[in-house]
Amino acid sequence: MKLRSIEIELPRIDAAADFLTRIWGLADGERCRGAIYLRGSSPLPYLVGLFEAETEKVRSVTFLCDAQELASLAARCEGRAPFRAVSSDDPGGGHGIEVQLPEGEIFRFLADAADSLAIEGRDLPFKLTHVVLSSTDAEASARFAEEVLGFTVSDRTKGMVFVRCNRSHHSIAFARAGYSSLNHVAFEMSDIDGVMRGIGRMRDAGTAPVWGPGRHGPGDNVFAYFIAPFGAVIEFSTATNLVEDDYRTGSPDDWTWPENRIDQWGVSAKDVTAITEAEKRFRFRDWAPGAA
Ligand SMILES: [Fe+2]
Repeated sequence: MKLRSIEIELPRIDAAADFLTRIWGLADGERCRGAIYLRGSSPLPYLVGLFEAETEKVRSVTFLCDAQELASLAARCEGRAPFRAVSSDDPGGGHGIEVQLPEGEIFRFLADAADSLAIEGRDLPFKLTHVVLSSTDAEASARFAEEVLGFTVSDRTKGMVFVRCNRSHHSIAFARAGYSSLNHVAFEMSDIDGVMRGIGRMRDAGTAPVWGPGRHGPGDNVFAYFIAPFGAVIEFSTATNLVEDDYRTGSPDDWTWPENRIDQWGVSAKDVTAITEAEKRFRFRDWAPGAA
């Protein structure tokens, strides 16, 4: 099982695509049925799907799995979660199910989705490394992720519950926010230099990080957060820990910082007001299992 892509609705997708390719570093993927798909250097056909709409919404977060994982997932959803069968007409195709999480988030799980050829590019993000969701009840969402989706909690901090679906320390996290929204989307860069060069491109374009650069505690990944011109919080990241099945789930007491520190290096400053505002901008679209 792996995280593949996020599909979002927003006004002026051409402007968002221009920013994401020219400055952020993604490459053009396909354009079809009015949607714009942007890719990284990995063989995945796209990482971000942009759909023109009047208001900002997340359509889905998409994972790739095999037929057996899909069958187990569907069996666990039965009677416990709203879900429906879907076939994807996004690049890569595939078929599977969409599941609605407790706070309205829609996760799409696809089997038999095709890859494209990997492409090269010095500063191309490789893939999405995680998507974080702001939650009213992060513990309830994490419980759902474990019991219904078959994911595993890696760590808990005062602010978040980190959840994995493979050896990567977290592909999803639920932030203890008091509301439901898209918190941020993180793009995996090849190394720390790739993160730093990305910060440079953003600064050249007139945008400073709202948090970072720094190195997180849980997951040990390097980070730099920005508010995209289209409103969402996006992150350059690299070097997320890989963990084994016997990884001990950490608790908030395991992850405390010395006074005045908010990352391992002790170098990062955070614009809490700006980032918190942006974390509220994208909500999930309305969804009903019976609707198309
Ligand atoms: Fe992150």
